[in-house]
Amino acid sequence: MAQNGTAQNGPVEGTASVPQPLKVQDIRHTKIFINNEWHTSSTGRTFPTFNPATGVKLCDVEEGDKVRQTGLFMTLSAKAAQQRGSAWRRMDASSRGRLLHRLADLMERDRLLLAVDPGLREPFLQSFYVDLDGSIKTLRYYAGWSDKVHGKSLPIDESFMCLTKHEPVGVCGAIIPWNFPLLMFSWKIGPALSCGNTVVVKPAEETPLTALHMGSLIAEAGFPPGVVNIIPGFGPTAGAAIANHMDIDKVTFTGSTQVGQLIKEAAAKSNLKRVTLELGGKNPCIVFSDCDLQLAVEETHKGAFYNQGQCCTAASRVFVEESIYEEFVLRSVERAKKVVIGDPLDPLTSHGPQISRRQFLKIMDLIDSGKEEGARLEYGGVAVGGAESLFIQPTIFSNLRDHMRIAKEEIFGPVQCIFSFKSQQEVVERANRSPFGLVSAVFTGSVDRALSMSAALDTGTVWVNCYNALHAQTPFGGFKMSGHGRELGEYALAEYSEVKAVTIKLRETL
Ligand code: NAI
Ligand code: MG
Repeated sequence: MAQNGTAQNGPVEGTASVPQPLKVQDIRHTKIFINNEWHTSSTGRTFPTFNPATGVKLCDVEEGDKVRQTGLFMTLSAKAAQQRGSAWRRMDASSRGRLLHRLADLMERDRLLLAVDPGLREPFLQSFYVDLDGSIKTLRYYAGWSDKVHGKSLPIDESFMCLTKHEPVGVCGAIIPWNFPLLMFSWKIGPALSCGNTVVVKPAEETPLTALHMGSLIAEAGFPPGVVNIIPGFGPTAGAAIANHMDIDKVTFTGSTQVGQLIKEAAAKSNLKRVTLELGGKNPCIVFSDCDLQLAVEETHKGAFYNQGQCCTAASRVFVEESIYEEFVLRSVERAKKVVIGDPLDPLTSHGPQISRRQFLKIMDLIDSGKEEGARLEYGGVAVGGAESLFIQPTIFSNLRDHMRIAKEEIFGPVQCIFSFKSQQEVVERANRSPFGLVSAVFTGSVDRALSMSAALDTGTVWVNCYNALHAQTPFGGFKMSGHGRELGEYALAEYSEVKAVTIKLRETL
C-alpha cells in the first residue's frame, strides 16, 4: 500500500534527472541474504524476474528452498542473533535506533536505484516520491521509538511491587506481496527491529530485487549478522516453511485472504506462533450530495486507479447519493480519460501494467463478468497494447447491483464500480455487508455526518474527504476478514513485543 509523503513536494535536489530503464548490469544482488552474506540456492535452482511493462526478463534470482535456506540455516542465523548475550540483544536500544536511521540514510543515497525496481511496475514518480518516501519515513519513525518501548510500574494490591517490561518476541517471519515491495518491507522490519527482534523476510516471487538491495544496505549500515535475513522464493515452499517453522516466534503477512488463512492454520498446527495479517478489502467510499464534488471525484479516482488498482485499499465500491449520481459518473469518466497509459519509467505516465499474466487474466475475467451480469460499462473494459501486453485501460462500471461478482470480489485491478444510494441508513448497511473491513471513505460537508458515519462503518480506517492518507504515525489494519493486528504507529509496537510482568514481594510497606 502506498503511503502519503512528499508527493506534493516536488523533485529532490540533485536527483531530478529522468531515470533510464533498469539495465541488467544495474542489478547488484540476486542471491539469498543470510548472516549479512550472499548465498546460492542449496538446490541449485533459480527463478526469473521480469519487467511487466515489456515482458523482458531482467535476471535470474537464487531460489530459497524449504529445507536448507528457510527451514534451518536461515532461522538458525536469526535465532542466534536473537539469543540473550548476542551483539543484537546486548545493543543499547538507542543504538538500534541509530542503525535504523543509518539504513534510512543509505536508502536516501540509493533513492534512484531503489525506486527504479518498483518503478518498472508502477508509475516511476509514484514509486520515487510515495513508496520510497513512505519507506524512509517509516524507518525513521521506528528509529525514534527504539528507546521508548517501555513498560509501567503498577499499583497492585498488598505488599508487592509490579513492573512490566516489553521484550522482543524473537524471530519474526515476514511474508510480503509484490504490489509495494519496498514499503511492505519497511512496514515489517521497522517496528520489528525497533523492538529488538530479528527478521526473516520472504519477498514476493514477482518482486525480489528491491528487498535484496535492502539486504546490502542492512549489512552496510552495520546491523549484526543474522538480524535481517532475506529469502527470495515461492509461497508454498519458502513462505510455508516460515509459517510452519518451530523456531519462528511470529509471522507477519500481507497478501491474499486465502493465504492468510493458510498461514494462521500453519501457525496453529506448528508452535502457535503469533500472527499479524493484512489481507484484502472491498472498500466502500460513500459520497453524499453535500460534498465537494470535484474533490470526491478526484480522490475516489485516485483510490480506484492508484498503482493500477493493485492496492488492498483500492476504492472498489463507490456509493454515490442518487441526486448527484449521474453527474458523478460523468465527471469520473472525464477524469479517467486523462489517465496516461505507458512505460512506467516515463515521468508523464500515470498508469502502468498489471504485475503478471495471472493477475491480468483474473481482472479481465472479472470485467467480463460485470458486462455479462448487466452492469453498464461507462469507460474502458479492454486491454491495450497487443496480445502479450499486461496493460488494462481504466474501467468504470455504473448501474451495479450488490450481488454482482465485481461488487463483491476483490478485483485488484483498475476497475471503479459506482453504485447509487438513497439513504444514509441504507448505505451503511450495504457498505458493511462484506466479509472485508479494511478501509472506507466518506465525502461530506457535514461534520456531524462524518462523525456518525465513521462510527457506523466496520473498517480499520475511515477517511473523511480524503483517500489513501497513510502515514507512519497512523495505525493501519483490518476488521473482519481483512486481517488482524495493526501495522504502523505506536500500535504496531505491541505486535512485535512480549509483555513480561515482574512481581516482587516487599518485606515491608513504608
Ligand atoms: P498471495 O497471497 O499468494 O502472495 C503474497 C505473498 O504470500 C507472496 O510472498 C507469496 O509468495 C506468499 N505465499 C503464497 N502462498 C503462500 C503459502 N502457501 N504460504 C506462505 N506464503 C505464501 O497473493 P497473490 O497470489 O500474489 O495475489 C492474489 C490476490 O491476493 C490478488 O489478486 C489480491 O486480491 C490479493 N493480494 C492482496 C494484497 C494486499 O496488499 N493485501 C497483496 C497481494 C495480493
Ligand atoms: Mg497466490
